[in-house]
Amino acid sequence: MNNGLKIVATASALPKRRLTNEDLEKMVETDNEWIITRTGIRERRICEGENQITLSVEAAAKVLAAAKEKNPAFTEEQIGALFVATSSGEQLFPSAACMVQKELGLPENMLAYDITAACCGFIFGMQMAHAFLKSVGMRYVLLIGSEHLSKIVDYTDRSTCILFGDGAGAALLTLAGENEAEYYANHRVNGNDGALVCKSGGYMQMNGPEVFKFATRVIGSALDALLADAGMTVGEIDHVVCHQANKRIIDHVKRKYPGNEEKFFMNIESYGNTSAASIPIALDEMNQRGLLKSGDKIICVGFGAGLTWGSILVTV
Ligand code: COA
Repeated sequence: MNNGLKIVATASALPKRRLTNEDLEKMVETDNEWIITRTGIRERRICEGENQITLSVEAAAKVLAAAKEKNPAFTEEQIGALFVATSSGEQLFPSAACMVQKELGLPENMLAYDITAACCGFIFGMQMAHAFLKSVGMRYVLLIGSEHLSKIVDYTDRSTCILFGDGAGAALLTLAGENEAEYYANHRVNGNDGALVCKSGGYMQMNGPEVFKFATRVIGSALDALLADAGMTVGEIDHVVCHQANKRIIDHVKRKYPGNEEKFFMNIESYGNTSAASIPIALDEMNQRGLLKSGDKIICVGFGAGLTWGSILVTV
């Protein structure tokens, strides 16, 4: 059996400042109704004082505290790797992962580095975590997804500034035990610097309709490919957590799985698209709301700039 990936604990850290649709109405020619209808977003959080490192540190501290509360035998010495998925870091180096290690005084004998895969960062990070847990025999991987996207959003471009927000989420991961869950995952890359791109020192630029079509196509294919590999139906899955990019994208996909629509979690209304942070923030919100039960099977699906997409089955 190829043991799957298990979530031990989750956490999130969000900037205090809310940027509402009404705030955006004062900044660009848009309106609340248009944004809600086209995206499902009502507000997003924006850094003011916080940044990608402070959010990562806060999410990491919270997830370690949650892990200790759940399992008093857990110690930080058991963490073999610390990865931060981000495409909006504050500095080229040291990595945000190294800064988290320093700020929290974590042990030195761990791998620590950042993963740049835009909105697919947390999915690829979970796949890397699994590979490390399997091959290096580590006990735990601390995986953080964190973004300070408001730095690279052009607040005069109404087609992008309404979508994105800042935030961080974290998960402590381990290998699932025998009979708990097998490992199923897939990943794809199709280099394209026209649909969604951010050059160094510039703002992000996006062809919205092209990205929309891409997203609705690949979420379904990543989900179906995983289910086919696992020999499962979506009915046997407890939750599907898609990257939170646009409510209309997820609504479009979930209609293909009649009777299972309620399994597709959504919280985009409150945070917008937080890129690599969106899946761990969603997982933590589900956890805080008591939606995650021990043994639940979750498929996480990501897609984004690259273009990249993929999915992974995890258990709790
Ligand atoms: N407020 C009001 N009007 C807006 C607007 C805004 N914030 N943004 C764009 N418009 C206008 C356009 O200018 C266009 O006007 P026109 O017809 O006069 O030219 C009209 O709305 C339709 O624009 P279009 O881009 O076709 O809208 P859309 O229905 O595709 O919605 C997005 C735009 C960006 C919401 C949508 O394409 C989308 O969500 N794409 C995916 C983006 C994404 O998920 N990116 C991240 C992936 S990880």
